[in-house]
Amino acid sequence: MSADTHSSTSPDTTPYVLVLYYSRHGATQTLAEQIVAGIESIPGIEARLRRVPEVSTTCEQTTPEIPDSGAMYATLDDLRQCAGLALGSPTRFGNMAAPLKYFLDSTSELWMNGALIDKPATAFSASSSLHGGQETTLMTMLVPLLHHGMVYAGVPYSATELLETTQGGTPYGTTHVSGKRGDNDVNDHERRLAVAQGKRIARLALAMQPLRENR
Ligand SMILES: Cc1cc2nc3c(=O)[nH]c(=O)nc-3n(C[C@H](O)[C@H](O)[C@H](O)COP(=O)(O)O)c2cc1C
Repeated sequence: MSADTHSSTSPDTTPYVLVLYYSRHGATQTLAEQIVAGIESIPGIEARLRRVPEVSTTCEQTTPEIPDSGAMYATLDDLRQCAGLALGSPTRFGNMAAPLKYFLDSTSELWMNGALIDKPATAFSASSSLHGGQETTLMTMLVPLLHHGMVYAGVPYSATELLETTQGGTPYGTTHVSGKRGDNDVNDHERRLAVAQGKRIARLALAMQPLRENR
């Protein structure tokens, strides 16, 4: 994958869409990688793939700054400097997962400074069951983004896979049904929808740049 997975967080001249996710078992991460592919197919913009660390229910957990493998942990600067955001979480009781919410709860300073106003955002999710709350999860993810002044973009039905899918895929954002044992592969419909979602958020991030510069 060509996404910048291990570079520093210093500002870059090329705009990027931050693909920020939490994934315990890898399903949401697979969708994230397809969204990255969609973003990187658009000239003039890059993807920055980042994840959030685990949180513990019993105590504050300290993780090494650089994970052993996979995408780097996100910093507030990754979010502050992005031109757009794709936010991914597994469905947990019809809601976003706590580690992602924990990270979002650390973004008050960005909210106070209006750092994300007029930036496009989108969301994606994975769940084990077909009607297990994917859409409500996407809705829970949308709410803090609106508080931040972001402009939410889903997946329009011009992506015709929305009419054909019998598994994941919603107009509110791409989803994947991982199955009872979590071993379903991301299927063609889900993958194509994730790529389309990545392309759309990349185009919107570029198109909305002048709006932010003239604010
Ligand atoms: C605490 C918890 C709550 C969950 N809640 C739901 C749920 O409400 N609906 C559902 O279909 N799957 C639910 N799942 C299953 C996950 O959404 C599913 O395994 C998902 O694919 C995990 O994504 P990941 O591989 O990115 O970690 C839950 C899993 C856990 C651990």
